[in-house]
Amino acid sequence: MTSPSAPTVRENGTGTPLVLLHAFPLPARMWEVQLERVPGPAGDDARVIAPDQRGFGAAPLGDRPPSLDTAADDLAALLDRLGLERAVLGGLSMGGYVAMAFARRHPERLAGLVLADTKATTDTDAARANRERVAAAVLERGSVDLLIEERMAENLLAPGTDPELTDAVRNMIAEADPAAVAWAQRAMAARPDSLDELAALDVPAAVIVGELDTVTPLSEARMMAEALSDAELTVIPAVGHLSALEAPETFTAAVRALLKRVK
Ligand code: MLT
Repeated sequence: MTSPSAPTVRENGTGTPLVLLHAFPLPARMWEVQLERVPGPAGDDARVIAPDQRGFGAAPLGDRPPSLDTAADDLAALLDRLGLERAVLGGLSMGGYVAMAFARRHPERLAGLVLADTKATTDTDAARANRERVAAAVLERGSVDLLIEERMAENLLAPGTDPELTDAVRNMIAEADPAAVAWAQRAMAARPDSLDELAALDVPAAVIVGELDTVTPLSEARMMAEALSDAELTVIPAVGHLSALEAPETFTAAVRALLKRVK
């Protein structure tokens, strides 16, 4: 459970603004290591900003219908509030879908892009039906217990992951609000293909993927890297879907390398 005073946006460092968008159904706290390390030893290489997205962590869900466009517009409103015209955006999995929706709706505000363990293609019919099943079930039960079991069984983390990290991920999933889980599932199910938008971008990009990611596999990462005009692909060995948590050092190094390419 989040306390009423928990921040909805975490921030650290000064320098190039970098907004990190968390995965489903985790809160912004998943970026703890990147918040600390991406700004670099003197803390002035990047201003890292990690918001809880609509309904997750301490952020209210509100009453808008499910749509990743709404999540992307939330982000534009956040940049306005922070007085930022442009920022580098980084998203892992669902965070990547939101970053691609932002690229479609607000391309002029994008200074660079990190797409981690995510995909630009749409869901299959079976995946869409499964999302609706999960959405209906968590709402009916008023609990995300089913999601915890199913997500962990999907090999979110590579085999042999430190049990402490596995527990931390379970605990983060357990904090998710069933209404936010249903909202996000329905929003993700409706997302369009983003390969054309990626091809139209002319900003530096980093595509990062865990070698053992079975949720959004290497083939999807390759497709995004090929569509983008200026992308570097980092494949992190022996790591699953939550690469930022499983291999924080390598992930952070890839993000810092991208920041050096951003003008
Ligand atoms: C995520 O980690 O954000 C999810 O796996 C995204 C999805 O369900 O497609």
